[in-house]
Amino acid sequence: MIIDTHAHYDEHAFDADREEVLSSLAAKGVGCVVNVGASPDGARASVAFAKKYDFMYAAVGIHPDDVGALDDALMEELREMAGLPKTVAIGEIGLDYYWDVQPRQVQKEAFIRQLELAKEVDLPINVHSRDAAQDTFDILCAHHAGTTGGIIHCYSGSVEMAKEYVKRGYYIGVGGVVTFKNGKTLKNVVREIPLERIVTETDCPYLAPVPFRGKRNDSSLIRYVIDEIAALRGIPAGEAEEILWNNAMSVYRMGTGE
Ligand code: NI
Repeated sequence: MIIDTHAHYDEHAFDADREEVLSSLAAKGVGCVVNVGASPDGARASVAFAKKYDFMYAAVGIHPDDVGALDDALMEELREMAGLPKTVAIGEIGLDYYWDVQPRQVQKEAFIRQLELAKEVDLPINVHSRDAAQDTFDILCAHHAGTTGGIIHCYSGSVEMAKEYVKRGYYIGVGGVVTFKNGKTLKNVVREIPLERIVTETDCPYLAPVPFRGKRNDSSLIRYVIDEIAALRGIPAGEAEEILWNNAMSVYRMGTGE
């Protein structure tokens, strides 16, 4: 079965047919979706999805673009949402130096604050990092590494850095970009790190894989990501699918029968 470790079904792109899309996923082989909060409303929506749908789980956190809103009251609300039974991670949190919506110092402080929360509530993290590879890595090493684990979402760094993350217990999130012609570095990452440390994700509605590149993404299209990962590793897609499912279950501690 397919597992999506990073989706945004609260985004406006799904306003017209959200229910329809979500209820169609099971028939397309999707067994589990983690909706990831980026804004305060996104975190609230993630928790609401987890309540409403058996197959959905929540990650709660504030994306670097939105951390201007991260005051004490919001931290307290995140802490409460983190305590709910179907909240499996703190995320997405991190640094975004591409858009630089918030001053970098504000981004760093909010990132660290949310890392401390993850440790306090003992949940893995889901990390967003864009054009900020070294600072992200340094902050994770200084404030989190080796504690509750997590996923480096939409990984876009080097093979060497991926190996360093793996050494420190993190998982590498791989989505549609691995099917892109210009996704060469990510293809190499997939070839060179242990398959047991890769997890599948969409970041939907964004980053649909080839042959749907540019269209709206959804969790069922992870099928194409699994096919590409299997091809890069030279194993049958069915085998890759099973391993990738187990990886996500273990990083988010969602093992069956618990
Ligand atoms: Ni995202």
